[in-house]
Amino acid sequence: MPVITNIEDLKRIYQRRVPRMFYDYAESGSWTEQTFRENSSDFSLIRLRQRVARDMAGRTTASTMLGEEVAMPVGLAPVGLTGMQSADGEIKAARAAEKFGVPFCLSTMSICSIEDVAKHTSKPFWFQVYTLKDDEFMQALFERARAANCSAIVITVDLQVMGQRHKDIKNGLSAPPKLTAKSVANMMTKIPWGLEMLGTKRRFFGNIVGHAKGVTDPSSLSTWTAEAFDPSLDWDRIATFKRWWGGKMIVKGIMEADDAKRAVDAGADAVIVSNHGGRQLDGAISAIRALEPVVAAVGDQTEVHFDSGIRSGQDVLKALALGARAAYVGRAFVYGLGAMGQAGVTRALEVIQKELETSMALCGEKRLSDITRDHVLVPKGFSDGWD
Ligand code: GLV
Repeated sequence: MPVITNIEDLKRIYQRRVPRMFYDYAESGSWTEQTFRENSSDFSLIRLRQRVARDMAGRTTASTMLGEEVAMPVGLAPVGLTGMQSADGEIKAARAAEKFGVPFCLSTMSICSIEDVAKHTSKPFWFQVYTLKDDEFMQALFERARAANCSAIVITVDLQVMGQRHKDIKNGLSAPPKLTAKSVANMMTKIPWGLEMLGTKRRFFGNIVGHAKGVTDPSSLSTWTAEAFDPSLDWDRIATFKRWWGGKMIVKGIMEADDAKRAVDAGADAVIVSNHGGRQLDGAISAIRALEPVVAAVGDQTEVHFDSGIRSGQDVLKALALGARAAYVGRAFVYGLGAMGQAGVTRALEVIQKELETSMALCGEKRLSDITRDHVLVPKGFSDGWD
């Protein structure tokens, strides 16, 4: 077993083990991938301030997210097709999150269904909702999330239409993968992945197949998003979802203070600053640059969480210093999952927690709630230098 010391180590193993089509799906941004790249590289522009000779005994990364106690304020972001990265991937990731004590958020575009994940876990998880045109399907989705005991829904508002990722088109991305000369040749080099996949029945979009109407090819993500997603989604409809659901609602995909205010008016219990990991609007600023104005606008009314670009505990610390209450990892846990299954997700979380805890201490603090803007140096104009 190789020694894993950081998220990059997991990524290297992941790339070797998982078919190219699914590696590319996770590792892409839209169009030129500028926003995808800058989501991560902009973190390196922020510097942490070293403080010394401060009492660091009894440190903890424990916190809360939406009133739920967490071992660290880092959730597993909703990621489509997770069950294609490793057989039964959503169940493995949810179990790892549950054991670790962090929230797991299941994507509408998951392979394992809501019911399946509920059956194989014991704590409530969160469910991410895409807004489809079919009202009956939407109401049923809320009903299913309620029956599965989900403790919050996450409404993703930045994917009414899908950004183009060139590689997915070229690879003919689908779940299950279509058997072409190219995909078969590649899968032949991924035998352990294939054997595990043959051993599970969960190879389709579990929340959709057999549930959604009017989709001509439910195995193709791009086809069913184009056919089924509601391009007319607006804030009134989001407020309606809150009424239908009746529980905690998180709005994910906020990049502007004004949109954050609207989300709060629509009943959001938390907003997630995110540009969908650079997978949607290419040319948008990095999510970390968008964080501070959102915190300034709504941080005293709602929890502001952060997603897009986090690959380390130091990144989490920087997001917290800029005002986020919590952060999410998507790709970072997928690397672990593809590399080593459930144990790999646990390893990814351990790596991030260790980095977070140690860096917090080196910044002179032993509680994350004491991390403030004073712990970082940020280039002038980082968050407000644009016209
Ligand atoms: C879906 O959410 C995607 O980004 O592929």
